[in-house]
Amino acid sequence: MITGKFPELRLRRLRKNETIRRMVRENVLSVDDFIYPLFIVEGEGVKEEIPSMPGQYRYSIDRVIEEVGEVKELGIPAIILFGIPAHKDELGSDSFSDEGIIQRAIRAIKKEYPDMYVITDVCFCEYTSHGHCGYLKCDGDSCNVDNDRTLELLKKQVVSHAKAGADMVAPSGMMDGMIKAIREALDEAGFTEIPIMSYAAKYASAYYGPFRDAAESAPSFGDRRSYQMDPANSDEALREVALDIQEGADIVMVKPALAYMDVIRRVKETFKYPTAAYNVSGEYAMVKAAAMKGWIDERKVVLETLLSMKRAGADLILTYHAKDAAKWLKEG
Ligand code: PBG
Ligand code: ZN
Repeated sequence: MITGKFPELRLRRLRKNETIRRMVRENVLSVDDFIYPLFIVEGEGVKEEIPSMPGQYRYSIDRVIEEVGEVKELGIPAIILFGIPAHKDELGSDSFSDEGIIQRAIRAIKKEYPDMYVITDVCFCEYTSHGHCGYLKCDGDSCNVDNDRTLELLKKQVVSHAKAGADMVAPSGMMDGMIKAIREALDEAGFTEIPIMSYAAKYASAYYGPFRDAAESAPSFGDRRSYQMDPANSDEALREVALDIQEGADIVMVKPALAYMDVIRRVKETFKYPTAAYNVSGEYAMVKAAAMKGWIDERKVVLETLLSMKRAGADLILTYHAKDAAKWLKEG
């Protein structure tokens, strides 16, 4: 509330120097907020840079271990894993195999770093030959993701992740009823303590472009607009989040972050629930490209952007900038 007026009231008094600015600061960015995404591929000794995401790599299981060591060294508490299998099929069966790429990666990471918090992205698009986020049902030439059949496959996927040692699962496929199905499957298998972070309000966004190159997960035909949200809507995001919370989500996510800050704010204000923002691949690529051109100050832009996500209401931020930001925060 404003109690006086100029010239008695001068808001600049509390901006006079760093000490007073620090004292009245409303939001802080901390390494504790970060979740670092990692892409895992088959093979040995692989660490290949993703062309559209400079500074981000695809790792084979043996090489990701050293990377997780660096992440831990920087104080980042959590990683989220994306698997890229050698063989894709109609069902995406590598995704729920106990010997799948992600299951082996979890076991290897947990063996070396038991207290690194391992979250798994739960979806099918990286694993299916058609690149869609679930089981495809075709009627002649027209194919669509079969929601309820996909739920059955999702159950198998999360249980295999939990058995391999995942600490948390994060379904990203935007299927109706996915949180309920996953909670039931985990509980029935005895994993009542494994939380679910739902990609609750995930938009059909062009900002996922670089990720789809990295994860080879672009749909081979059509797009994802029949399951991901329309960028025009935000009341609908509140319905998505409300349903996921009812079904048992422990953390709700808004994705992408930058173009959807208003949605983050509305979700946080409406539900007062642990809220995550996904600072996606296209947001990262834009910053990196401009920084490489010398057009922006990367460090300042990244820290300002991540802090703004906190201010918008995010408690957690999934970001490819996590390692750099952790270093910069440490340097002060
Ligand atoms: C898969 C998935 C996607 C992302 C995270 N999980 C891509 C998509 O929906 O096409 C995007 C992440 C990013 O762009 O950084 N369902
Ligand atoms: Zn998907």
